Amino acid sequence: MTSEGIARTGNNLDPWYSNYAERAGGLAASEVRALFAVASRPEVVSLAGGMPFVSALPQELIMSSMETVMREQGPTALQYGGGAGIPKLREQILDVMAIEGIRGTVDNVVTTTGSQQALDLVTKLFIDPGDVILAEAPSYVGAIGVFRSYQASVVHVAMDENGLIPEALRQTIAHLRGQGRRIKFLYTIPNFHNPAGVTLSAERRPEILDICRANEILILEDNPYGLLHFDEPAPNALRSLDEEGVIYLGSFSKTLAPGFRVGWALAPHAIREKLILAAEAAVLSPSSFSQMVVSQYLSQSDWRGQIDTFRGVYRERKDAMIDALTEYLPGLSWTNPNGGFYVWVTMPDVLDSKQMLPRAVKELVAYTPGTAFFADGRGRHAMRLSFCYPTPEAIRLGVRRLASVVNGELDLLDTFAGTGSLSVRASDRYDEAPPADLK
Ligand SMILES: Cc1ncc(COP(=O)(O)O)c(C=O)c1O
Repeated sequence: MTSEGIARTGNNLDPWYSNYAERAGGLAASEVRALFAVASRPEVVSLAGGMPFVSALPQELIMSSMETVMREQGPTALQYGGGAGIPKLREQILDVMAIEGIRGTVDNVVTTTGSQQALDLVTKLFIDPGDVILAEAPSYVGAIGVFRSYQASVVHVAMDENGLIPEALRQTIAHLRGQGRRIKFLYTIPNFHNPAGVTLSAERRPEILDICRANEILILEDNPYGLLHFDEPAPNALRSLDEEGVIYLGSFSKTLAPGFRVGWALAPHAIREKLILAAEAAVLSPSSFSQMVVSQYLSQSDWRGQIDTFRGVYRERKDAMIDALTEYLPGLSWTNPNGGFYVWVTMPDVLDSKQMLPRAVKELVAYTPGTAFFADGRGRHAMRLSFCYPTPEAIRLGVRRLASVVNGELDLLDTFAGTGSLSVRASDRYDEAPPADLK
């Protein structure tokens, strides 16, 4: 009983424990979250986060964009706006998407509070508890979190160095349909995948679209890294090949700055109305100020040139990471991305990246364990390394420290079990065996 005499059935940690909605059960903090607080100390080389290197931005230009917005349109910038976002920015977003072959109308663009909010809104619109969302194996941890919070059942589909495998998609769909499951959409990150670092090949794109069309499965194409290529640009977006079957998500977080929290969705006309209503219910309107500053920046800057600058910075860092892995951890395997922020590293079966993390942090290096990127517990033998934020020198140091942790673990296993021979699994897929019910 509380002091007011109301009986509560909570626990010592949270008196409201039994009052939460069922879906709040999906909002579990990651087991490694506490470690990441330690990992953010300056002496730790963090290869864990996905923070863009915003110091490479022209700070003066950003400041002058803010000043111009306030001087010329202050009252509007400080006011509520429309639920779909400001029309001028939505026009400019069409120019950004045109680089990847997308042709759309301003009407169908909805600006959101980062693409993370668009992920949330689309999931809210389509998912009832138990509905299936197909996602690559592995997939973006932040999307898995959203899907869980709406009680979706996430089923992974295998990928290889050319991205999602069409045959695996076909088989997974057939298997789930055989079980009478309801598949609501395919969530895919076709370019410079987070966390796998791979890109869906141009040849596979029409095939993936055909499979989804034939099975009446909507595609949610999440593309925050698409313009950050190192050599060849990524193939044109899935959305450029199909207007009706794809919701496309974009973001200014990686090509400008995540602090503005400006992303967008380009949705088929029929869906876009519901999306705006859901956005209004969530936030009334996205930040007018942020949208206007981003719009001003796009108008007065060489934003394409700035993206080239970012590409140069990230390319140098990616090279530093691949060189360091080659030198210090030649027994492991990894992806070599042509863009984006991440390398996916596969270790010998005997190693567990989650168990190894405390030791790594003690040795002053952090990474994200592979299990974070699966909804079904896979990924223990893998990890994601980010090269976006640390300098090339720090990346080298971090990988050297990581090598000492990996080799230390293997020595220990050799000593106690005689099993630690450095053998990398012969697999060209980035997942382990799927759970028994999907075989
Ligand atoms: C694949 C993917 N989608 C969405 C997001 C969310 O980005 P935003 O900052 O636009 O919300 C991220 C951020 O890291 C991401 O990697």
